[in-house]
Amino acid sequence: MAFIDKHAILEKSPTLLLVASLLVVTVGGIVEIAPLFWLENTIEEVEGVRPYSPLELTGRDIYVREGCYVCHSQMIRPMRDEVERYGHYSLAAESMYDHPFQWGSKRTGPDVARVGGRYSDAWHVDHLSDPQSVVPESIMPKYAFLMDAQIEPTHIEALLKTHRFVGVPYSDEQIEEASADFRAQANPDSDYDGMLERYPGAAVANFDSQPELTEMDALIAYLQVLGTMVDFSTFTPDASR
Ligand code: HEC
Repeated sequence: MAFIDKHAILEKSPTLLLVASLLVVTVGGIVEIAPLFWLENTIEEVEGVRPYSPLELTGRDIYVREGCYVCHSQMIRPMRDEVERYGHYSLAAESMYDHPFQWGSKRTGPDVARVGGRYSDAWHVDHLSDPQSVVPESIMPKYAFLMDAQIEPTHIEALLKTHRFVGVPYSDEQIEEASADFRAQANPDSDYDGMLERYPGAAVANFDSQPELTEMDALIAYLQVLGTMVDFSTFTPDASR
């Protein structure tokens, strides 16, 4: 009884109550959040998930710059209507190398987490240049200017290093070869075997069919890899984690 009575001291002093509440919230917060930084299994590693190739990563930056995430999400929820429309629900591991992640919070257009391989490169060129030419009722804006924006791998090494700094496991070799890999992926006539070894499953193509390397090439390279890294015909969720 005596101990309970002491609570009156706290209740009668706003300052003391505030300090004590903060203390409780801090301890609770640390207990809940801190282990996530050390637990190895916060993200289940899944076979096939690899860091983005230099060209894909450049395309991803264009996706972010143009605000595609404002209309498109990249997270398929584990509900029947979503899985039937878009495919297997998204795994945490599939966005483990995304900095920042592109889950999105609004769908004016469809989810694009698994759009990779669903359309041809030519379809993407037509659709991005003039969406209404392939989907007449579309309200998506035109991005034809991406065809004219030529790109060079000037900052590609720095970009990969920055991602390595925040935890993406790019190897020294991947950083050294970044410029070459960047060009090789957009040129089917090049010697791209090394690039494919470093980035298995990457699509090699002259994505926009123009001789120049443009932002359109990079963006399509990115769209074509989305959701394709994990082979869901063999994937089984590891429930023991
Ligand atoms: C104003 C909202 C809006 C913005 C911004 C937008 N989109 Fe779209 N997008 C849509 C709508 C609506 C559709 C569905 C109709 C269509 O296919 O055009 C769509 C469809 C798509 C599709 C086809 C998806 C599928 O599964 O059929 C892709 C790919 C796509 N958008 C990529 C992009 C990219 C890349 C960007 C940024 C450069 C972008 N969108 C920006 C609204 C938007």
